[in-house]
Amino acid sequence: MNPLNVSSTDIILTGDRTTGQLHLGHYVGSLANRVILQDICPQFLLLADAQALTDNMGNYVKVRDNVLQVALDYLAVGIDPQKSTIFIQSLVPELSELSSYYLNLVTVARLERNPTIKDEIKQRGYERDIPAGFLTYPAAQAADITAFKATVVPVGSDQVPMIEQTNEIVRRFNNSVAREVLVEARAVVPENGSRLPGIDGKAKMSKSLGNSLALSSSEDEIRQAVKMMFTDPNHLRVADPGQVEGNVVFTYLDAFDRDSAGVAELKEHYRRGGLGDRVIKQRLENCLLELLEPIRARREALAQDPGEIMSILKAGTARARETAGRTLSEVKAAMGLNYF
Ligand code: TRP
Repeated sequence: MNPLNVSSTDIILTGDRTTGQLHLGHYVGSLANRVILQDICPQFLLLADAQALTDNMGNYVKVRDNVLQVALDYLAVGIDPQKSTIFIQSLVPELSELSSYYLNLVTVARLERNPTIKDEIKQRGYERDIPAGFLTYPAAQAADITAFKATVVPVGSDQVPMIEQTNEIVRRFNNSVAREVLVEARAVVPENGSRLPGIDGKAKMSKSLGNSLALSSSEDEIRQAVKMMFTDPNHLRVADPGQVEGNVVFTYLDAFDRDSAGVAELKEHYRRGGLGDRVIKQRLENCLLELLEPIRARREALAQDPGEIMSILKAGTARARETAGRTLSEVKAAMGLNYF
């Protein structure tokens, strides 16, 4: 079985807001799985530029430019556009049309209660001045998911309430037309899901926290990041016993070093004392270089020809539109809005 218990009859949809390049946390939490899952069932990958604008008012250049950057990240890690359909959200107007119908199936109170929305309103300091598009993005996300009749949505744990709200909309819609037009989806959160801590040891790796390592990082940047990483602040001399729990270097070794027996031995030695931070950092540096160097090189090669990347996205978007258009027609027909 694959890491997420997905079968060949499933349909996957997931995506990323195009607000910045992807980093190591994205790789562990989702990109690595997508590379595996694309061989198991159809997989739609959404470059969520329209959703990115819901909390990036006026930042058109950033959101637009990162469509290409995120696409480069996808391709560099091995997502294959022959197997996965990569598409640009704003170029599939069927999604906004679906979303406009779904908005009639949710209340403002329910949107305000959505835990993800609540958190994000707090983080962004909106208080009562919430952009309406932001408050209602759960309905838009329901459109993203249901347009493809997705059964599986791999996401980080912060996105689970979005899938719950999507399924509420699905049930409400199907009830309202007394037909099973839309399909419920299950959120699958990978076990190690997006929980890679930042290089500073903070709970989450995030570009905005400045504690991330981009997939495009150079050797120097990787070395620098490892150098800055927290270990055990009480492990002052090599001979001292050290703590493994909460030690970022070990957390990363657990995530990236395939020789887990070797890592277990290192942990033993570290706990006992006599193992210096230099040694474990060197080992981690080697692991990260081995993982990231080919990704960086591939990304750089792909970036030479942005026109080629855009034509991949154009083809993917055309495929996505076909599927979304079929669902939209079914939805409208079920509501009796098929006049001619
Ligand atoms: N909300 C997701 C994020 O912030 C991006 C996204 C948009 C998404 N539409 C989606 C994820 C549909 C899964 C399914 O990362």
